[in-house]
Amino acid sequence: MSTVAERFAARTSFTAYALPSGPRVNLGCGPVMPKGWVHVDGSRRSWLVARAPSLDRLLVRLGLLRTSAFQPGIIHHDLRKRLPWGDESIAAIYAGEVWEHFEYEDALRLTQECRRVLKKSGVLRLCVPDGVEFWKKYLNLFFEEQARESGARDAARLRRHVQMYFDDICTRPAGLKSFGHFHKWQYDEIQLVDLCERCGFQDVARATFRVSRIPDIGAVERSDFLIVEAIKP
Ligand SMILES: C[S@@+](CC[C@H](N)C(=O)[O-])C[C@H]1O[C@@H](n2cnc3c(N)ncnc32)[C@H](O)[C@@H]1O
Repeated sequence: MSTVAERFAARTSFTAYALPSGPRVNLGCGPVMPKGWVHVDGSRRSWLVARAPSLDRLLVRLGLLRTSAFQPGIIHHDLRKRLPWGDESIAAIYAGEVWEHFEYEDALRLTQECRRVLKKSGVLRLCVPDGVEFWKKYLNLFFEEQARESGARDAARLRRHVQMYFDDICTRPAGLKSFGHFHKWQYDEIQLVDLCERCGFQDVARATFRVSRIPDIGAVERSDFLIVEAIKP
């Protein structure tokens, strides 16, 4: 039986595909800022590095802040707003562990924005935590514990899993807490493919870790989660 990677590679016929020329953009880059990409983040620290770098350096010298993982040249931008590029000006967009930080409607608008700024045949590639894996693990834990004698069951294992859901996954940020550390949606392959298709992307398919039409995807892709790649028609 062929692997997901083989099926993806066969379907996408990489040899027949050429990425358009132009910038490759890494949305919600966090500390992942390799050369050759345009990096965008909306966190408060990226604002400081992008807009007030000397103040950032001063705060680090005074020991009030740690050295930032953000580097000069980062674009500070709240991705819930219109993307700061013209129509059909970008060759590829990657976003690793970012879409789950938006309410569904914001993610829909952002995906539409990606379609607007991508050149014809440009690539959108999204990587998010896979809700299916989360619930599979929950069910496995449940059935493992259920199979034990009632006195030997460990409810704490289930509690820890449920706690993770309410602490990190199904959580809206409150007050001054960073928006980068909370998930507001949970995706699976069907929803993520549908999201891209609803926004007019074509050839939308689940992809495998670091197997992409974008040649140097390995520079930005850190997580082997649920990955979907789509083409701007
Ligand atoms: C989990 S980190 C992912 C970092 C990196 N892409 C990776 O693959 O490891 C999510 C990033 O998305 C950024 N982010 C979340 N919401 C955002 C928003 N509304 N606008 C811009 N960036 C946002 C956060 O600041 C954070 O750096």
